[in-house]
Amino acid sequence: MESLINKNILLGVTGGIAAYKSAEIVRGLKKAGSSVRVVMTQSAQEFITPLTLQALSGNPVSTDLLDAEAEAAMGHIELARWADAILIAPATANTIARLSSGRADDLLSSITLAFDGPIGLAPAMNQAMWKDERTQSNIKNLENKDFSLYGPGSGEQACGDIGLGRMLEPSEIVELFASLFKAGSLSNKSVLITAGPTQEPIDPVRYVTNRSSGKMGYALAEAAVEAGAQVTLVSGPVNIKPPASCNFISVETAQEMYDAVMHHVSGKDVYIGTAAVADYSPTKVEGSKIKKDGSNESLVLEMKENQDILKTVSDKEDRPYVVGFAAETEDLLKNARKKLEKKKLDLIIANDVSDKSIGFDSEENEVTLITNSEEVLLDRSSKKKIAKRIVEFISNN
Ligand code: PMT
Repeated sequence: MESLINKNILLGVTGGIAAYKSAEIVRGLKKAGSSVRVVMTQSAQEFITPLTLQALSGNPVSTDLLDAEAEAAMGHIELARWADAILIAPATANTIARLSSGRADDLLSSITLAFDGPIGLAPAMNQAMWKDERTQSNIKNLENKDFSLYGPGSGEQACGDIGLGRMLEPSEIVELFASLFKAGSLSNKSVLITAGPTQEPIDPVRYVTNRSSGKMGYALAEAAVEAGAQVTLVSGPVNIKPPASCNFISVETAQEMYDAVMHHVSGKDVYIGTAAVADYSPTKVEGSKIKKDGSNESLVLEMKENQDILKTVSDKEDRPYVVGFAAETEDLLKNARKKLEKKKLDLIIANDVSDKSIGFDSEENEVTLITNSEEVLLDRSSKKKIAKRIVEFISNN
């Protein structure tokens, strides 16, 4: 568990019978080389005292959002900044529901909301509460927001029931949590990703564009960063915050995207063309706004074909591993395979954009990864999860 050496870990303890096992988790984290600070909810203090966890962690235990003295020493925002990762164990059904809905009405929920790094949860509750569809929907929501889940395990519960809901053993939780810091599958690799739409101007106030939101490309950038890669993200105009640790280049037109990619592609290990680049742009951009003066019943816009960025990258002599997307409305796999061959790609990701609930501007996607020798369907899931699986696939190829 070397990955926990010198890490700042904030352990959140919430009110369940398994809270007594948190003492062992503090010991396990300390033994693995981490500094530990504990935050307890009010009800957790009914099961184990702050003094116990203070003695074991060697740090004061924080319990109250409105404690002026504690806030003066290390306030909730400083605690969120101090932590490299948060582990909540046990995580009760109530805590899971509150985290899922983004509540910030106690110290632990406020810190979690303000925190921008990895969060692990070790659920512990009665088996019927765990099975309940509201808990399952909250868990799904948190997983989609990249919370890592450890357990629960199955067996006899404190209330006498038998089933899923027991908190995992402290040693298992610490081991699973340590894997958050393991070197990623793309460490030492550099990845260039394009995302979003392009905007092709017609006149100073109008442009031709498409419905790409950038969600798929940004999710890939985030997954690649998490996998340890150095990421350059070239993006058309979207409303999403790029991952903090990537080299971000903002562009508007297909020509600007082409220029940015050509400028940054050399030396890259992987290129992923997620952007919905305009195939055509107006031949002429009017210098002033086109007027509707009543003399023309129709307006003809002449368009010229844009350079294919993906093809240009794959034609390079020192080319990276080249990944393209195929946004298709018919004959999905056949057309995607044609693009794989024509553009000489290593991998093409076939995306059925005729289905409005996946593809353009949706939270979820369903894609097929196609290489010369393989075809792998990634079932419908959040774009974040799909991105992780794509990154995993790339790192294994
Ligand atoms: O952004 P979201 O709302 O999350 O939506 C995601 C997405 C649907 C845009 C994405 O998953 C996707 O399918 N992107 C590819 C969109 C597209 O333009 O596909 P295409 O089949 O027209 O192009 C094939 C490939 O060539 C793409 O990798 C594209 O980036 C690339 N291309 C196309 C034209 C061009 N001039 N240069 C290119 O590099």
